Amino acid sequence: MEWLQDYIRREGKVLSDRVLKVNSFLNHQVDPTLVMKLGQSIGERFKDEGVTKVVTIEASGIHIAFAAALALGVPFLYAKKTKAITQSGDVYSASVYSFTRQQTYEITVSKEFLSSDDRVLIVDDILAEGAGVRGLREIIEAAGATLVGVSVVVEKSFQSGRKSLDDAGVPVYALARIGRMSPTVGIEFL
Ligand code: G4P
Ligand code: NA
Ligand code: NA
Repeated sequence: MEWLQDYIRREGKVLSDRVLKVNSFLNHQVDPTLVMKLGQSIGERFKDEGVTKVVTIEASGIHIAFAAALALGVPFLYAKKTKAITQSGDVYSASVYSFTRQQTYEITVSKEFLSSDDRVLIVDDILAEGAGVRGLREIIEAAGATLVGVSVVVEKSFQSGRKSLDDAGVPVYALARIGRMSPTVGIEFL
């Protein structure tokens, strides 16, 4: 998607060779026209896969999930982040270690909304080390649901998230894949 690469080059800020700031259009201020186009592209890719639910993690996955779910004509569900480790009989939970924030948090999904009949598409804004996606996969597995694939807006291919999904045989649809970046040279897309 050439147009998205141009957009990210124009609007994104490369803070270091590992961190891309996208807060002017994706994870703080949000460009709704862009997000709807991304959702349509995700919907197009997965329209024949029998997806019954789109799943993400709050907060910055929510609008992507909304747009993808709208395109697919299914509901979306966002896992909630909780600080304390709370165990309840009514929720599936997983703990996620965030490399960026260097802290562990719990994500939870009500058992009411995920079942073994579901065919799930995970979406997120950025795939880095894949910790968030790993937590969601644990929850999907605990529910006995089927994981259809993972779709992200930006994949930082030089971090481990993509490789671990490839190794697990999970189909990944990344709308933009960054092979390398630096504040001086800019972004090299794959
Ligand atoms: P992961 O997202 O693949 O699990 O990797 P990691 O643990 O490294 O990321 C932790 C959080 O940092 C995630 O946000 C992720 O989206 C975000 N992140 C990782 N790399 C970048 C980057 O280059 N730029 C930006 N802007 N964010 C990055 P989160 O925990 O989902 O939090 P939230 O954004 O939903 O609040
Ligand atoms: Na996220
Ligand atoms: Na994020």
